[in-house]
Amino acid sequence: MNYHIAYGTDDYLKDYMEKHQNEEGKFYLLEHSGDAMLIHKTTGDSVFESGHTYEAIEESGSFENAGYAVFNNIPVSIEGRPLFEDRFKERAGLVEKEPGCEGLAILRPLDTETYVIATMWKDERDFEAWRSSSSYEKAHKERDTSNALPQSVFSGKPYLKTYNLIASS
Ligand code: HEM
Repeated sequence: MNYHIAYGTDDYLKDYMEKHQNEEGKFYLLEHSGDAMLIHKTTGDSVFESGHTYEAIEESGSFENAGYAVFNNIPVSIEGRPLFEDRFKERAGLVEKEPGCEGLAILRPLDTETYVIATMWKDERDFEAWRSSSSYEKAHKERDTSNALPQSVFSGKPYLKTYNLIASS
């Protein structure tokens, strides 16, 4: 499954979503402090003129019942991709059992270096509860150990983006 993502204002992207609602696939409109993001999830090509495309290397659950989505953006070097993806194949698999977790998508970038680990939640409080849980600790337990991924895997600093889901079609 491909995730095409475009950025803009919520009004502009809402119109865009309405105009393209007969296209194959699903649209999700997400917003944070006036910045919006439109996701077109499809097996086909993008209808967007700009933005980025990712392919899901793993996905479970969905955005449908989620109110809150968290995108952990991790820049990874081209040489680091196999190691990085192997790590995720062996991931703890705990997050999807957390209360309020509605889904997860691990997205490989097709036109940038930045992977996206998207988690979908009923609301922000559920995400915050996982962040301070032992399940989060366990999922990241290798990070400061000799088993951690080598620094050369990363090509930049990871950054978090959070959004509220405001519409879908
Ligand atoms: C609030 C910030 C973060 C969120 C929301 C997040 C999200 C996730 C999720 C959902 C998983 C899978 C957990 C599971 O299977 O139960 C995971 C694992 C992982 N995360 Fe994070 N993460 C965060 C911070 C970071 C940071 C800063 C890095 C550093 C690059 C990182 C790198 C990894 C890696 C490599 C794994 C695979 C497990 C392993 O460490 O071997 N994460 N993360």
